[in-house]
Amino acid sequence: MEKNLSKVEIKGMEAYLYDELIMVISAFTYNKFIKQTIKDINIQPHDKIIDFGSGTAKNICLMKKYTDGLIVGLDIGKEMLKKSKKRCESHNNIKIFYHDIRERMPFVEEFDIAFISFVMHGFIDSDRDKIIQNAYDSLKFGGKFYILDYNEFDLKKQNIIVQTIFKYGECPLASDFIKIDFKEKLKKFGFENFKEYYYYSNFVRLLVGTK
Ligand SMILES: C[S@@+](CC[C@H](N)C(=O)[O-])C[C@H]1O[C@@H](n2cnc3c(N)ncnc32)[C@H](O)[C@@H]1O
Repeated sequence: MEKNLSKVEIKGMEAYLYDELIMVISAFTYNKFIKQTIKDINIQPHDKIIDFGSGTAKNICLMKKYTDGLIVGLDIGKEMLKKSKKRCESHNNIKIFYHDIRERMPFVEEFDIAFISFVMHGFIDSDRDKIIQNAYDSLKFGGKFYILDYNEFDLKKQNIIVQTIFKYGECPLASDFIKIDFKEKLKKFGFENFKEYYYYSNFVRLLVGTK
C-alpha cells in the first residue's frame, strides 16, 4: 500500500517534458544548479559511474564531459528510457538499462562513483535500504556514493511556501525522508568519510560517503 504514495515513477507526458518542467518549477535555475553539482562530484578522467534512476540522462550527459570511463544509467520508466537512450546513442561509453534499482544488481565492485539524484526520497525506507546496499555492492573499495536530494530539515519550522510544496507537490514519503539522519543510515552499510554540499538555501544536499 505504501508504494502508492510514491511519485518518483514518472510517466507519459510528464516524462517526455521532464527536463522542461523542472526548469519551469525551479524558475529557470536548475541548469546552473545541476552543472555546479556535477562539478562538485569531482569526477576523475577515467571514473566509471552508475546512475540510479537516470531519468532523461541529463546528469549523465553532464558527467560524460569529465570522464571517458563507462557510465551506466538504470531506470524503469518507459518514456524516460526511450528519451535517455536516444540522447546517449552516439556515445559508446554510455549504457542505459531497464533495471529496478531495488532489485539485486548485475554489477559487483565495478564503479568508482554511484550517483542517485532526486530518487531516494520517493521510496519507503526498506526500499531505500535495498538501494543503498546495491550502491555499496556496485562500488569498488574507495568508491563514492553521491546522494543528491532534499536535505534533512524540520518541515514544521519552514515557511508556508515550503510546507505547501511538501503537502501538495511532493509525495508523503518525501516528508519522511527529510527526517532521516542519512549519514547514520549510510554508516550501517559501511560508508564513511562523509562530505556534504548544499544548494537552494540548504534545502537540497549532495551527500557523499566512501566505501
Ligand atoms: C524524479 S526522477 C529523477 C531523474 C534523474 N535522476 C534526475 O535527477 O533528473 C526519478 C526517476 O527515477 C526513476 N525510477 C523510479 N522508480 C524506480 C525504480 N524502482 N528503479 C529504477 N528507476 C526508478 C523514474 O522512472 C525517474 O526517471
